[in-house]
Amino acid sequence: MISEQLEKNKERYLEELLELLKIPSVSADPEYTQAMIEAASFIESKLRDAGADNVSIFETDGYPIVYGEKLIDASKPTVLVYGHYDVQPPDPIELWESPPFDPVIKDEKIYARGACDDKGQLYMHIKAFEIMMSNNALPCNVKFMFEGEEEVGSEHLEEFVKEHTGMLNSDVVLISDSSMIANDTPSITTGLRGLSYVEVTVTGPNRDLHSGVYGGAVANPVNILCKMIASLHDENGKVTVKGFYDPVADVSQDERSRMAKAPFNLEKYMNELGIDDVHGESGFSTLERTSIRPTLDVNGIWGGYTGEGAKTVLPSKAHAKISMRLVPDQSSKEITELFAKHFKNLAPPYVKVEVRDMHGGEPAVTPTDSVSYKAASRAMETTFGKVPIPLRNGGSIPIVEMFERILKIKTVLMGFGLDSDAIHSPNEHFGLFNYYKGIETIPYFFKYYAEMSED
Ligand code: BES
Ligand code: MN
Ligand code: MN
Repeated sequence: MISEQLEKNKERYLEELLELLKIPSVSADPEYTQAMIEAASFIESKLRDAGADNVSIFETDGYPIVYGEKLIDASKPTVLVYGHYDVQPPDPIELWESPPFDPVIKDEKIYARGACDDKGQLYMHIKAFEIMMSNNALPCNVKFMFEGEEEVGSEHLEEFVKEHTGMLNSDVVLISDSSMIANDTPSITTGLRGLSYVEVTVTGPNRDLHSGVYGGAVANPVNILCKMIASLHDENGKVTVKGFYDPVADVSQDERSRMAKAPFNLEKYMNELGIDDVHGESGFSTLERTSIRPTLDVNGIWGGYTGEGAKTVLPSKAHAKISMRLVPDQSSKEITELFAKHFKNLAPPYVKVEVRDMHGGEPAVTPTDSVSYKAASRAMETTFGKVPIPLRNGGSIPIVEMFERILKIKTVLMGFGLDSDAIHSPNEHFGLFNYYKGIETIPYFFKYYAEMSED
């Protein structure tokens, strides 16, 4: 019945998503504030059309949160669906083969900023809900909460969740904002990394200097910053920040050997990225390095003259944005503090160093022995014809830990994207297969979850 419904309405489901993708809801840039509001109200009206009750937009000190619900029976369990309607900035725009906010379908994929992360995956839930409603087949209660600040650290979300514990109270959270291994190898995400994000500034002389007149006698902050950054990893690829690994919880041999069995083609991985070899912490596989191990990366570095041609200058300041991906039981606040202390200690006396805390998020692991995991597994097995593999992902979704800490609710991460979908990169895309598969699978999750909760 689901697949019939899907077949009949495919075109419309796609058209609607394309409309949403045209709205440039970039949360990082205040230029796009109007688009953020437009995206929120688009979702509000689609949620209402699909049959949700009490649909409303909640203002926050940041961007609004869209909420809606369908409560059919207090004796039935309640699923809280979360997603985010904000997207990453499209830059570098010149590398897009088609405009980021003018979606096109090419090779059975939707190309647009947010196609996969997370508008495409968010919208699957609205359409799956619409199908269940129109078939009179919603088997339990559902609540929807869609935020607009995920890509900038979900800064105002904690307060919102704390102020609306009653409204949000549910039995499980369902999120589609992660990836699976491959279209023929479904997986369920069982963990996410946390994040500490800082901006560092190294200051030398009080103004930019002539690099001939002063060069050699005054420390160059860009040179110094590079040296400091280079020292943040040792020859084994380990992060040298003191105490960085102390809280890291051991991952069971069982989980590691399960990961080792997950299909992963290193050759293909390298080819797709145009690299001749991978690089990381020794003693760990690529899959482990991107999921169960913490990292430190420079996201951007600047200072001095970067314009056309050559200008001889000894810059006054150098800057870098540095992120650390965290794993259980590292805490974002603690790691940021450890980093700040370590980095300031690295500074030689001839420069000043500042470390500014940007934002963070806590790591999370989700259970594989819960009713909700089993329901997700059965749902994917039904539609993919294969039992999904449990696997941790490397990205971060701060709300997962918040829901667990504040509301005491566990999450199921049933994502339908692929790592190769180029999220946050130019030419982000989402397979039509994935979009429709998501819409088809979600109602089965509700069905099995409601049934299995009764036993
Ligand atoms: N959807 C991603 C996170 C993700 C990607 C999880 C792939 C699993 C697989 C999310 O939108 C994201 O990009 N999060 C940010 C978090 C941050 C800004 C606090 C991230 O991971 O960089
Ligand atoms: Mn996302
Ligand atoms: Mn993202």
